[in-house]
Amino acid sequence: MTTSDHSPVLGLGYVGLDVRDLSAWIAFATAVLGLQPAESPADTAYFKMDHYVWRLALHLADAEGPAYFGWEVRTEHDLYALEKRIADAGKPTARDAALARERRVLYLFSTADPAGNRLEFYVGPQTESPEPFLSPTGASFVTGDQGMGHLTFEVNPYRETVEFYRDVLGFTTSDITSIGASEVIFLGCNRRHHSIGLLGGPDFPATALHHVMVETTNIDHVGRAYDTALDGHAQVVQSLGRHWNDHMTSFYVKSPSGITFEYGWGGRTIDRQQWSIEQGNGATSIWGHRPIGAVGLGDSVGAAMVHRH
Ligand SMILES: [Fe+2]
Repeated sequence: MTTSDHSPVLGLGYVGLDVRDLSAWIAFATAVLGLQPAESPADTAYFKMDHYVWRLALHLADAEGPAYFGWEVRTEHDLYALEKRIADAGKPTARDAALARERRVLYLFSTADPAGNRLEFYVGPQTESPEPFLSPTGASFVTGDQGMGHLTFEVNPYRETVEFYRDVLGFTTSDITSIGASEVIFLGCNRRHHSIGLLGGPDFPATALHHVMVETTNIDHVGRAYDTALDGHAQVVQSLGRHWNDHMTSFYVKSPSGITFEYGWGGRTIDRQQWSIEQGNGATSIWGHRPIGAVGLGDSVGAAMVHRH
């Protein structure tokens, strides 16, 4: 595969998380993220963010953490060609028809990236078009050919994981930034500036999901969610800000299981065939995204929350 080839991956399709407190999570997903609860079996909560029957799944579990990441592929031919590429790269793959039915997709196979994240590649998601998506907060989301958003991981091993996404999955690099002794690479497979960010370096000895980003269609959706979080419904961990690379205006909020969500608007799209790799200067944001809580700002936010109540 040359760098001019398209990745067979369409985009990030779904995310599954194991959670201990399902009711707290449902409150967060609806009131802060503005996701629509979907039909769900016991001990599971599915959420919609567009015409797909679900995009986020929460599974009641004894331990918190990411369970799986679904990547949508364009065609059956691409799916099975990708399965062969991954197997040829030495990674075990497994087809599972029962799991495909559970995930409400046509065909699916699973594997793991070198950092140990469970990945599921699929075609044929169930959709409800033209059934409208109805957000409990009035939000709407940028999905379609950009996928449901992006993921950022702290990974170990770093190089091997980068090579898996770039050289096996066919993602291309948008940009790379060094932050101290660490590096972060942003990779994409569609018009979204990046579908995955990978951070590596001596400060990241273990793999962890850093954040999940979802993008709204209106800055007011971000502002209202920011207000809702500051009103005491969730902990804002980074203030409103704008990223230098994808131009996303966003804030970061902690979910009940501790996994951070980036809630954004206005991310730029790029033409991957015309794009040339850029290098950042170490600052991830043009303005804002100040850590809250760890550097004393938490006190003023806490005071504001007390004031509001
Ligand atoms: Fe992000």
